[in-house]
Amino acid sequence: MKVKTLLKNLKGFRGLFIGAIIAIIIECLLSLIYPVIIKYSIDNIIGKQEITNYKFLYKIIGLNLGKAAVVMLIFTVIGGVSLFLKGQLSAIVSEGIAKNIKDKLFSHLQNVKYSYYSNAETGDLIQRCTSDVDTVRNFFGKQLLEFVNVFVLIILSLFFMVNLNVKLTLLSMILLPLLVIFTIVFFQNVKRTFKEYDEAEGKMSAVLQENLNGVRVVKAFAKEKYEIEKYEVVNSNWRTKNMKLLKLFALFWSVSDGMIMLQIALILFSGIYWTVRGDVSLGTLIAFLTYQGMLLYPIRQFGRVVGDFGKSLVAIERIEEILREPLDENLEGAKIHNIQGNIEFDNVSFSYEKDNYVLKNINFNIKQGETLGILGPTGSGKSTLVHLLTHLFTPTKGKIFIDKVDMELIDKKWLRQNVGLILQEPFLYAKSIKENIGIASDDNNESSIYEAASLAHIHKVIKEFQEGYDTTVGEKGVSLSGGQKQRISIARTIMKNSKILIFDDSLSALDTETDSKIRKALKGKNDGSTKIIISHRISSIQEADKIIVLENGEITQEGNHEILKNKEGLYKRIWNIQNSL
Ligand SMILES: Nc1ncnc2c1ncn2[C@@H]1O[C@H](COP(=O)(O)OP(=O)(O)OP(=O)(O)O)[C@@H](O)[C@H]1O
Ligand SMILES: [Mg+2]
Repeated sequence: MKVKTLLKNLKGFRGLFIGAIIAIIIECLLSLIYPVIIKYSIDNIIGKQEITNYKFLYKIIGLNLGKAAVVMLIFTVIGGVSLFLKGQLSAIVSEGIAKNIKDKLFSHLQNVKYSYYSNAETGDLIQRCTSDVDTVRNFFGKQLLEFVNVFVLIILSLFFMVNLNVKLTLLSMILLPLLVIFTIVFFQNVKRTFKEYDEAEGKMSAVLQENLNGVRVVKAFAKEKYEIEKYEVVNSNWRTKNMKLLKLFALFWSVSDGMIMLQIALILFSGIYWTVRGDVSLGTLIAFLTYQGMLLYPIRQFGRVVGDFGKSLVAIERIEEILREPLDENLEGAKIHNIQGNIEFDNVSFSYEKDNYVLKNINFNIKQGETLGILGPTGSGKSTLVHLLTHLFTPTKGKIFIDKVDMELIDKKWLRQNVGLILQEPFLYAKSIKENIGIASDDNNESSIYEAASLAHIHKVIKEFQEGYDTTVGEKGVSLSGGQKQRISIARTIMKNSKILIFDDSLSALDTETDSKIRKALKGKNDGSTKIIISHRISSIQEADKIIVLENGEITQEGNHEILKNKEGLYKRIWNIQNSL
C-alpha cells in the first residue's frame, strides 16, 4: 500500500523515468558483451579454438584483434553516453518529484485547519518538509534506478552466462537466494529502526527550534543549563538510534560481503579445476570471473537500496500524514456575503478539547457601527471568543450570525478578509515596515500606508528611524518595543478597511493617552465599522455601546459603563481599583 503511495509521485515523470530505464538497459547490455568479446579474443582469435557460441561476433570482428579493440571502444563510448543520460534523466525526475512534494506540502500546510497547529511541533514539521522529502528524492534519484539496474544486470548476465556455460552459471548464482533472504530480513529491521531514528531527529529539531524561538526567556530566566540538558537528552537519543542504524548497516555489509567473497572463491576454485581438466576454456573462465566482478558492486549496492527503500517508506508515510490532515474547507453552500457588521452570538459554547468548555452559552448581539467592550480575567475565554468570529474555530454548540447569516455559510477566506483582528501577540514579518503594514490589503500605495500609520500613532516614530518606512523589522531587523509592534499591527489592520475590527488586548502595551488617541482617530476614520475591544483597562472600553464581562467562559455581566460601574460585580471592583489609582 505504502509502496503505491510512494510510486504515485512518479506521475508526470513516467516518460523520463522510462527513458532512464532504457539507458540502463543499453548500458548493462553493452557492459555484459564486454567479457564475451574478451573470451572470443582469447579462445577464438588467440587460441584459435572453434567458435561454438556467440557466432555473431565472427561476423563483426572476424579474427582481427584490432577490430575487437575498436568494437570495445565504440561500446564503451555508447555505454558512457547511456550512463550520462541515465544520470541526467534521473536527476530531472527526482528533483522534479521533490519540488512537487515540497510545493504540495507547503500549500497543504497553508490550508489545514488552524487547530492542527495547536498540537503540531514546528521543528518536526520542518523536518518532514525538508529531510523526509530529501529521503524520498534520493529514492527516486538513486535507489529506484539502482534497483532496476541490479535487476536488469542479473537477468541479462544470467542470459549471457548460460550461453557460455550452464554449470558455472548455476554455481555463480548459488548463494543468491541466501543473500536475498538475508536482505529482506535486513530491510524489515532498517524500516523499523529508521522510523525511530527519524522521529528522534524530529524531536531534536523541535527542541532546537523552540529554544531558538524562546531564547529571550531562556536568557531572562537563566535557564541555559536546563535547556542544554534537555537538548542533550534528545541529542543522545538521536545518536543511540543512529548508532543502531549504523550497526545494522555494518552487520549487513560484512555478512553480505562475506557471502560475495565466498561466491567468487567458489567460482575461482571450481573454474580453475574445470579449466585444468579441460571442461571449460580459459576464455570462459576469465569471462565468468569478469561477470562476477561486475555483479559484485551492484549486488552489494542492492542491500543499500533495499535498506534505503525502507527509509523512504517511513519518510513518505510521515509526509502523507501531513497531506492527510483535513483542510480548512468551507461548508457546502458557503458563499460570499457583503458584510455589514451586525454580529449575534446565539447560545455559543466552545471547547478546544472534548467536554472542557472554555466558552459556555454565550449570547449577545451588536449592531453595525457599535462598539463592544469585553472585560474579564486572564484565561476567561476572551481571545477564544473573538477567534470564533474569524472562523478559525467553529462553535461546538450554538451559532454565530453575521448580518443574520449563519457564519458557517460565509466563505471563510472572505470572512477573514473582512474581519480585522489585531492579535494579542503581534507578529511582524522579517520585512520592511512598509511591507508589514501593506501586507493585508490590496491597496498598498504609500499615502494609504502613511494614513494608516498616522491613525495608529506610529507614523512619527517610523519617520524618526534612519531608514524610515524601509526599516526592516522582525527576526533580522531592528528591535521594536511592544507598543511599537502593536501599533504597526494596528496600522496593518486599519489598511484592510474592515467592517468588523477586533482589538484583542492590542492597546494594552500603550500608555493611556496613546490608547485614547488611537480610539478617537479610529472613530473618525472607521466610524461605520463594528468594533470589539478586549481590554483589562476600563478606560479603553468605558465608551463602548455595550460591555460584557466574561468570567470562566460565561457572561456574568452585561450593560454599559454607567450601568456596570454601579452594579455589584467584577466590573465595579475593577473600576474602583483603576479609578482610585
Ligand atoms: N489552542 C488552544 N488549545 C487548547 N486550549 C486553549 C487554546 N487556546 C486557549 N486555550 C484555553 O482556553 C482558555 C481561554 O483562553 P483565552 O486565550 O481565550 O483566554 P483570554 O481570556 O484571552 O486570556 P488573556 O486575558 O490572558 O488573554 C484558557 O484556559 C486556555 O488555556
Ligand atoms: Mg487573550
